[in-house]
Amino acid sequence: RSLSTALTIADLKARARRRVPKMFFDYADSGAWTEGTYRANEADFAAIKLRQRVLVDMTGRSLQSEMIGERVAMPVAIAPTGMTGMQHADGEMLGARAAEAFGVPFTLSTMSICSIEDVASVTKRPFWFQLYVMRDRDFVRNLIGRAKAAGCSALVLTLDLQILGQRHKDLRNGLSAPPKWTPKHAWQVATRPLWAMEMLGTKRRSFGNIVGHAKNVSDLSSLSSWTAEQFDPKLSWDDVAWIKREWGGKLILKGILDSEDARAAADTGADAIIVSNHGGRQLDGARSSISMLPRIVDAVGDRIEVHLDGGIRSGQDVLKALALGAKGTYIGRPFLYGLGAGGQDGVTRALEIIRTELDVTMALCGRRDVRDIDRSILDEG
Ligand code: FNR
Repeated sequence: RSLSTALTIADLKARARRRVPKMFFDYADSGAWTEGTYRANEADFAAIKLRQRVLVDMTGRSLQSEMIGERVAMPVAIAPTGMTGMQHADGEMLGARAAEAFGVPFTLSTMSICSIEDVASVTKRPFWFQLYVMRDRDFVRNLIGRAKAAGCSALVLTLDLQILGQRHKDLRNGLSAPPKWTPKHAWQVATRPLWAMEMLGTKRRSFGNIVGHAKNVSDLSSLSSWTAEQFDPKLSWDDVAWIKREWGGKLILKGILDSEDARAAADTGADAIIVSNHGGRQLDGARSSISMLPRIVDAVGDRIEVHLDGGIRSGQDVLKALALGAKGTYIGRPFLYGLGAGGQDGVTRALEIIRTELDVTMALCGRRDVRDIDRSILDEG
């Protein structure tokens, strides 16, 4: 079916559910524990109300902006997501190409299926690389060096996954380390023939940044034990300073949800922070990212660029985040749903949907330039 009949991100999600094997669809569509924070991320956007304005000139509108000094077609980047190549064969390469053509940043996860080099080979626009700090610091250096060699224009350092949140859906689906392959999985794949055919057509089915690069990781079972022990529970602000020196370029700190942490992040001299709770996948019981944004902007907004992710499902949500002080936003699941629904075209469709909603909402709020959005578009009761 044509993607043009998908009018909302929810439409793309419904299509992805029909196309992607359940264990991988659930991996995208799940949060930690009760999933309360995951739900709050979305619900708290709906509670924010806009002021309807009339008879203002709405011609010549612009959605162009900048994030960390880079021009963006709209202030919406693709968030780093792990195992994206399991939503669709070669998923990261397809996503990066869609983002490049659209003119928005693409962030590649450390835990991607396609490697840094794979993505660099199919794009010209520099992409951003997301780093998890592993205990093996030689491997961290290896990743940083490869991101530099690939011309990545920013490093996104994720701070909120020193240990993994409790994701019960993944455990119930057997998406664990080491992975279990059962008749249930075979059935899930057999009932998604299009996905399976495309997957047979690619060799990229393992973690491309890690296998063959990290010490003693050569296959799936050695990879599982490696990942289980490599996330560093001792990460500190000194490590952030070390990574900043080692990288030497634009640095974005991801996973800030507290004003005190935001101040410490600003002290590091990084270029931006992302207000984020990892899409509700880590600390269940934390507040939604949009509800924390105003406090964090108050605390550090004059010292560092503030970005936000978590719960954005429409261009209207993007506008609300900008109104509350974010300079840029990221989409995780909307990107994955688009990819699962239709590969590169599906990602393009997700971006188009968000762009149209952003444009129409901005106009009906009586504004013409996305860079001028501020709190005065909100009805704060
Ligand atoms: C993520 N996220 C994530 N973040 C990160 O820094 N590195 C990663 O490898 C991943 N992996 C990942 C996988 C999946 C399936 C999801 C859904 C998310 C978090 C991601 O970057 C972002 O913070 C959230 O996805 C934002 O919330 P929404 O847009 O999904 O609601």
